Amino acid sequence: MSSGRNTLDQPPRVTILTTDRELGARIEKALKQRSVISEQSARPNECLQKVLDNPPDALIVDMKLPSTTAIEFYNRIRGEVGLDSPPCLILSDSAEEEIITRAYEAGAADFLVKPVSTGELMAKLRLHVPKLRRSGTGHTDRFNKIGAFKIIEELRRGNMSVLYKATHPRYEGPLALKTLENKKCDLDTLLRFRREVNLLTHLEHPHLAKFCEAGRSRDRFYFAMNFIDGRPLDSVLEEDGALPSQVVLTHLRDLASAIAHLHRHNILHRDIKPANILLSNDKGAVLVDFGLARHIRDQQLTGSHMVIGTPLYIAPECLEKDQTDERSDLFSLGMVGLQMLLGKAPIDGKNLYEIFNRIMLREFPQAKEVPGVCNDLATVIDRLLEIDPKDRFQSADDLVHALENIRSAGCTAS
Ligand SMILES: Nc1ncnc2c1ncn2[C@@H]1O[C@H](COP(=O)(O)OP(=O)(O)O)[C@@H](O)[C@H]1O
Ligand SMILES: [Mg+2]
Repeated sequence: MSSGRNTLDQPPRVTILTTDRELGARIEKALKQRSVISEQSARPNECLQKVLDNPPDALIVDMKLPSTTAIEFYNRIRGEVGLDSPPCLILSDSAEEEIITRAYEAGAADFLVKPVSTGELMAKLRLHVPKLRRSGTGHTDRFNKIGAFKIIEELRRGNMSVLYKATHPRYEGPLALKTLENKKCDLDTLLRFRREVNLLTHLEHPHLAKFCEAGRSRDRFYFAMNFIDGRPLDSVLEEDGALPSQVVLTHLRDLASAIAHLHRHNILHRDIKPANILLSNDKGAVLVDFGLARHIRDQQLTGSHMVIGTPLYIAPECLEKDQTDERSDLFSLGMVGLQMLLGKAPIDGKNLYEIFNRIMLREFPQAKEVPGVCNDLATVIDRLLEIDPKDRFQSADDLVHALENIRSAGCTAS
C-alpha cells in the first residue's frame, strides 16, 4: 500500500462513495475549488480497492449503498487498514440518533446530512484532515518559499499549474504567483505558459491583473501578478444567483474596457468565462487567465482553442470553422452577460456535441426574455450573441460606448 496521504507536499485527497452522482459531483466541485483532489465511485468494491492502493486523506461514504451499508463498508476498510484508516464522513438522509450512534461505534469521524452544504463539508473536513488546517484553502509549498516569494497560501491547483498567494520584499501587498512544475509539463504547456507571460507583460489596465515579474526557481517556472481580492464570478452566481441589470451593466462595462485594451494590443483572450473573472469590492470585475490568449495574427496557434477552451462560451465561428477574431471574444462576453442575468449557465448540454449544436442553432434564452431585465442592456447582450459575427458589435470599443450610453441614460425595464 502506498503512503500517499502522509506526504506533506501533496494536496489533500478525498474519496467519495455514493450512487447519487449529482451529490457526488457537487461535493467534488466544492472540493476542487478549495484545491482538494477527489475521486468518486459508485461501487463499494472498486472504492475499497482504490482506498487500499492509494489511501486518501478522508473518505466520504453514503449511508445507502448497493448491497452494503456505509458502516459495513468502513468496517471492511478498518479491517484491512487498521488504525491508520482515513477518517470517514458519513452521508446521511437524516440526523437520526440510532444511525449516528451505530456509525460512531463503527469508527466514523463525522456526519454530513444531505443536501450537504459547502460550509459544513469544509468545516468538518478541516476538523479531521490536519493538512487542510495548515492554510486557508489547502496545502502550501513545503519550504514556504519560491525564489524570493514567501508563500502565504495555495489558492488553486490545476493539472500542471498551481496558483499561490504570496508576498515579495520588492512589492507592496499580496501577489498571485502562478507556477508551472517543469517536470510535470509537456512542451506545449510550457510554451503556453511562456506565451501567457509574454502577453501579460504588455498589459496594464484597471480591470486586468497587473504583471509584476517572471522567473524560474529550481524546477519551477513562475510569474507574479497583483493579487485580486475577490470572488470568482462562477462561485458568485452559484452561491448568490442572478444579478440585477444595474450590476450586470457595470461588470460588463469593466470587462468590455479590459477586452478593448487587449484588442488594442492585438491580443485575443479566447477564454472569457465566469471562472476567469474575479469580482472585487475595490476593483470591480477583473479578467484573469491568459493561458489561451494569443496574438491576433498568430495563425500557428489556431486549433488549440477547440480542444482546451470551454465550449459554452466559444463563439460559433470558432466551433465551426476555427476562425477567431475580436468579435469571438465579444460573443463569450455576451454569454457571460446572459449567465449573470439568468444566474445559471444559459445552455445545459450533456456533452460537447449537445452544447455545440445548441450554440449553432441559437438554442439558448434571449436576454430580452429575462423578467425585469433592462431593455437596452438585453438588446446589447442579445447582439453580442448573434451567430454571425457581422451582426455583433464590431469592436470592444463600440461595446464600451453602448454600455456607457445605457449607464448615462439609466436602466429601464419593460
Ligand atoms: N491575480 C489573481 N488574483 C487572485 N486570484 C487569481 C488571480 N489570477 C487567477 N486567480 C484565481 O485563480 C484561478 C486559476 O487561475 P487561472 O489563471 O485561471 O489558471 P488556470 O489556467 O488554471 O485556469 C482563477 O480562476 C481565479 O479564481
Ligand atoms: Mg482559468
